[in-house]
Amino acid sequence: MNAPDTLDELVAAAQASFAQALTPADLENAKAQFLGKSGKVTELMKGMAALSVEEKKSRGAAINLAKQAIEAALNDRRQALANAELERQLKAEALDVSLPGRQRTPGGLHPVSLTLERIEAIFGSMGFEVAQGPEIETDWFNFTALNTPEDHPARSMHDTFYVEGGTEAAPNLLRTHTSPMQIRHAVQHVKKHRALIDAGDKGEGAFTGSMPEIRVIAPGRTYRVDSDATHSPMFHQCEGLWIGENVSFKDLKFVFTNFCRTFFETDDLVLRFRPSFFPFTEPSAEIDIQFQTGPLAGRWLEVAGSGQVHPNVVRNMGLNPEKYIGFAFGMGPDRLTMLRYGVNDLRLFFDGDIRFLQQFQS
Ligand code: DAH
Repeated sequence: MNAPDTLDELVAAAQASFAQALTPADLENAKAQFLGKSGKVTELMKGMAALSVEEKKSRGAAINLAKQAIEAALNDRRQALANAELERQLKAEALDVSLPGRQRTPGGLHPVSLTLERIEAIFGSMGFEVAQGPEIETDWFNFTALNTPEDHPARSMHDTFYVEGGTEAAPNLLRTHTSPMQIRHAVQHVKKHRALIDAGDKGEGAFTGSMPEIRVIAPGRTYRVDSDATHSPMFHQCEGLWIGENVSFKDLKFVFTNFCRTFFETDDLVLRFRPSFFPFTEPSAEIDIQFQTGPLAGRWLEVAGSGQVHPNVVRNMGLNPEKYIGFAFGMGPDRLTMLRYGVNDLRLFFDGDIRFLQQFQS
């Protein structure tokens, strides 16, 4: 019934049908029409039942050849579709290797960090240690131990960020200054040298008065409810403390003058100690500096608070105020940075604008 050229036509029809399939799913459908259970090739096979043995042989062989040709066409098309899919994926994920790479420009330290490094180096050269302490403080270290009375305005909610987790007796707060580090560091120092101090207090032998002096700076972040061109809720301070048996205002004046001249890299600079008040020092002074030359010449610029450490504070350090005496100061590295570089708005330090920050890289 079926002439051989009909088989050829069948193969041609299969090839055409496969060629039209644009997706693997289409191709499987097309395959079913020819090679499936009720596909055309299967039907031809079934149609041989009535043939004689001789006819079956030659017809069967012919159908098999056609079937093989169809299977080959199917595989070719499968391969072609897979290649096309791969091609498409490669195109979609193509890398343009001619694009220039992303540049990694070297970063640099923030100007305030540069100032902190300078402060540490300068005070380090004068024998000061550097101490770090917590930014979440207790009421005791931030106020009470520093002789700051319950009704002091600095304790009000308007000035201080109180944080959860404290008790009424010991509320937690974000430290409003680095001064709590005076107490923290001194207490550690005293603990370390307890034996020497006790022996000294009793006037025993060679140990008399031989507690090593406390000479420390404590730079770090501090927080107050305040925000404008010259105040930011987070700002930096650096505390200084020098306690010994014979440390006086004269030493403070020497140390601070030396610091300012080194920091600003000029000897054309004078200091003024202006009487002031702080609960933790007595007497107290604001330290003002005046450049004799340059753009800021002639103006008095306030750079630090200072004073002789109050006897109550010395006592809270665990020392006898009859014997141990010294000075403390607290300065603002942000302000020092503004003066050194001529920056007029504090907020520039916290904006993270790369055009501003890049100006401080050497
Ligand atoms: N803690 C003071 C403040 O934040 C600054 C200060 C003044 C620190 C006098 C001192 C000092 O150590 O002696 O305003």
